[in-house]
Amino acid sequence: MTRHFALAVTLLAGSTTLAAAADLKLGYALAEDSHYGAGAKAFEETLTAELGDAFAVQQFPNSGLGGEREVIEGIQIGTIDATIASSGTLSNFVPEVGVFDVPFLFRDLSHARNTLDGEIGQEMLAKFDDAGLHALAWGEQGFRHITNSRGPIATPADLDGLKIRTMENPVHLKAFEALGAAPTPMAWPEVIPALQQGAIDGQENPLSVIVSANLNEVQQYLSLDGHVYSPAIILLSKPLWDGLDDEQKAAFDKAGEAAVAAMRGYVDTVEAEGVATLRERGMEVNEVSAEEKQAFQDQLADAYADYESQYGKELMDSIIAVE
Ligand code: PAF
Repeated sequence: MTRHFALAVTLLAGSTTLAAAADLKLGYALAEDSHYGAGAKAFEETLTAELGDAFAVQQFPNSGLGGEREVIEGIQIGTIDATIASSGTLSNFVPEVGVFDVPFLFRDLSHARNTLDGEIGQEMLAKFDDAGLHALAWGEQGFRHITNSRGPIATPADLDGLKIRTMENPVHLKAFEALGAAPTPMAWPEVIPALQQGAIDGQENPLSVIVSANLNEVQQYLSLDGHVYSPAIILLSKPLWDGLDDEQKAAFDKAGEAAVAAMRGYVDTVEAEGVATLRERGMEVNEVSAEEKQAFQDQLADAYADYESQYGKELMDSIIAVE
């Protein structure tokens, strides 16, 4: 663990005591006024309320510590203490979590939240300890939609040959290949420049990201297909977690819960108001009907068979069965 310790010298009645505040470097990809920023603020405030100034949280928004894969690797080797991140590169660390990236698996936000908060989600979090990480909680981004510069997407044919950026996520990559697009996996810090330069036509992200990252400045069309739910995760360095006493662990768990509540609150608001905001900012938005979504699902039949053999039909069915 390479955490830095700031020593505060306090003079008390002629004696000198040393109080150590541990710096806690928390990196995330988006701005402070995003759902990640809301989660980070709630995390920091709760930790301070519970443990005083034992930990000095230093926030690094806007990919200030690098892309999500780099940050998670930094947490593994102990140069970074914590992150709030998407599921983009998670299956490189815990392959089984890729099941949550399967398109059209979750019906709605409450289905996803109940699954992640329930036994299936909690068992998945526990697997991160074997990957040199400690997963505190599942946060949230919302359902992902497609934006692009070519035109509205309502059928798989509209995706034909579309150069769409995906996360560095094999499950998403397979789905967009099956749908006839030309997917390009790319780390988030490269996405906006690539859209500006026309190196890619589109990308896909939830309203929380599209609104907070002002993707309307680089994309004309937004198609509300909700092809996949996008969880977020709060990860800590394992040596940091293992070095905490029980009271501190309880405080970190509480801070994690507060971060999740803040992220979900942000997502609820942006799901209700985000489309109107983006229309006001000039985006052309089309709804994708249930029948139109079915056409995407039908085209994913072979990819689905692969997902079932990779993650187990039983697990996928048990996720679908969550109320
Ligand atoms: O698209 C992504 O890579 C992620 O959704 C993002 C925007 C980095 C948030 O985690």
